[in-house]
Amino acid sequence: MHDTLADISREAHVSPSRLPESWISKLDLKLIADRVGTPVFIYSEGQIVKNVKRIKDAASAAGIDKRVELFVPFFPNSNPHILTAFQKLDVGLLLQLRSEYKILSRHGFDKFIISPGHVSDDEISFWADKPYPLFLSSIDEVSHFISANPKAPISVRLDSLGSGKPGIKYNQLSKLVDLLKSKKRTLDCFELYCGSGNSCDDMIGILEQVFMIFKTYFPEANAINFAGGYGFVYEEWKESEKHFEWSKYFNKLREVADRYEVPQHVKFLFEPARDILGDAGVLLLSVMRKPIENPGAYQILTNGSRVLMPSAQYKERHHNVIFLDSSMAELKPNGNAINAALRGRGILRHDYVLHDRYEAPGNVGPDDYMVILDVGAYCATQKMEFLNIPPAAEVIVDEAGTPYLITSHGEELDKWRYLLPERKQLES
Ligand SMILES: Cc1ncc(COP(=O)(O)O)c(C=O)c1O
Repeated sequence: MHDTLADISREAHVSPSRLPESWISKLDLKLIADRVGTPVFIYSEGQIVKNVKRIKDAASAAGIDKRVELFVPFFPNSNPHILTAFQKLDVGLLLQLRSEYKILSRHGFDKFIISPGHVSDDEISFWADKPYPLFLSSIDEVSHFISANPKAPISVRLDSLGSGKPGIKYNQLSKLVDLLKSKKRTLDCFELYCGSGNSCDDMIGILEQVFMIFKTYFPEANAINFAGGYGFVYEEWKESEKHFEWSKYFNKLREVADRYEVPQHVKFLFEPARDILGDAGVLLLSVMRKPIENPGAYQILTNGSRVLMPSAQYKERHHNVIFLDSSMAELKPNGNAINAALRGRGILRHDYVLHDRYEAPGNVGPDDYMVILDVGAYCATQKMEFLNIPPAAEVIVDEAGTPYLITSHGEELDKWRYLLPERKQLES
């Protein structure tokens, strides 16, 4: 790395080409940038289909495909246009809010599980009438559900971490069993959430716990929900190394389930988000200036902002980036590498688009672009209004490679869209 621009190109090294490894190499990025502008999130339907098939193929190979059901949470990417492929793949969605149900029903989705966290009796009654499993998070909520709809199957969410996340705690399981007995009911399904970003070995380690709970407390359950948390390695470039090892995991799951003599009719539910959605999205930004040189550090100014995808910075997630020239050819840091922070357009000290510093070509400048990879989950959905920066547009590229605009750019005055032209007196 170079400390000053004058050092650039002293040592020539050849950086590997990254573009060909990504589905974006097959897109007409110039068309998207010219027609839509930047910043723009771009999603690949083909990649979503591929990621679902990888999991389904692994389930088939382990001989449990008839028992495996996928329900992708809606909150990590809440654009219905991006998820339409799930309808033909028989993949359901996990919802937490009534508004999510409303918007998705309008878009033709009808396969759901509901995992709302702690909610009011009124909200439980709303879901109790619907034909979707509702994962209840406390014993009191289970009681209300039973009174709201005495015939509806009962599902609960358990908090294995004791972390304050909504969920019935391990030391409350006997009390739950007693409640079910007193009502002459059995549990249909329990969900065990074990945190996010777990390795395959971590997830395998949890299996014994899950089946022990099944055997000890709920041997009559018809389904077990293994929730989410399947690790995705953002730092890797190769698809084969980014994704969770589903084959290894499903083989082990089957082995442990057989050892615990779990009946064949018991279904296994999974709620993966980032493994399916993560590498199906990229964020295309424009570079606005030549690198800004400060003592000992460079900054590359983009038209992005941390508010476009806040968790990338506060969770310190390392997303890979690729620089492109004005014709969308890869701009590699060959012999002119600088180590740069990626600045957003807001004034705040912390308005960096990503947490890390990145190796960048020293000759990058206005008219060039930067692509942030693996932003399909926990990114656009989290857009904040803080800093008054409007949201980015969104484009989906269908399986045939045709791009469609699915979210317009926020207007310049987006932040004030609900502001009344005049103040309005409230009258009694
Ligand atoms: C209940 C539940 N299910 C599924 C997920 C998705 O997890 P991941 O993106 O790690 O697959 C989450 C993430 O927070 C969650 O809270």
